[in-house]
Amino acid sequence: MTTVTRPVRGPIRLPVPKPARTALLTVHIVSTAAWIGLDVALGLLVVVPMAAPEWTAACYQVLPLLFWPLVVVGVLSLLSGTALGLVTRWGLVRYWWVAIKLVVNLVLIVLVAVLLGPGLDAAGEYGRAVAAGETPTVEVPRLYMPPIVSTTALVVATALSVAKPKGRVRRS
Ligand code: HEM
Repeated sequence: MTTVTRPVRGPIRLPVPKPARTALLTVHIVSTAAWIGLDVALGLLVVVPMAAPEWTAACYQVLPLLFWPLVVVGVLSLLSGTALGLVTRWGLVRYWWVAIKLVVNLVLIVLVAVLLGPGLDAAGEYGRAVAAGETPTVEVPRLYMPPIVSTTALVVATALSVAKPKGRVRRS
C-alpha cells in the first residue's frame, strides 16, 4: 500500500489517483463559483425592478428559471466537496473549516428548496400578470435577502477553503 506524507497521523482511507482528485477539485471549484454567479444574477434581477419598475415584468419572469440551476450547483458542490473530504486528509468532520462548509452547504440547499423556490414562482406569476397588463393577485416575498445571505455565506466558505485553518473538531 502506498503511504502518503500528511500533517496528521493515520493512513488516507480512500486514496484516489491524482488526476481523479484534480477533476473532483475542478468540479468543486467550478460549481461553487457558478453558485456565487447565480446568486449575483438573482440579486440583480431583484434589485433592478426596485430602481426601475418598468423592468419588473421582464426580471420577475426570469427569476423562476434560476431555481433548478441553483439546486444543481448546490448539490454538485455538496457531492464534490463530500468526495474531496473522503479522499483527502481533510476528512468530513475532522477540521472545522470542512465541517462548517458541510453545514452551510446543506442549510443553503434546504433554504433554496423550501423558501426561495416558492418565492421565485410567485415572482414569475407576478411578472406574467404585469406583462399581460393585469393587476397581480399574488404576493411576492422579499427576495433581496436570499442573494445577500447566500453570497455572504459562500464567500466566507471560499475564504475558509483557501485559508484552511488548522483547528480540528476533535483529536483522533
Ligand atoms: C459551501 C460551499 C462551498 C464552497 C464555496 C467551497 C469552496 C471551496 C474552494 C474554493 C476550494 C479550493 C480551495 C483551494 O484549493 O485552495 C475548496 C476545497 C475543498 N472543499 Fe469546498 N466548498 C464548499 C463546500 C464544501 C463541502 C460541503 C465540503 C465537504 C463536506 C467541502 C470540502 C472541501 C475540501 C475537502 C477541499 C480541499 C480539497 C483539496 O485540497 O484537495 N467543500 N472548497
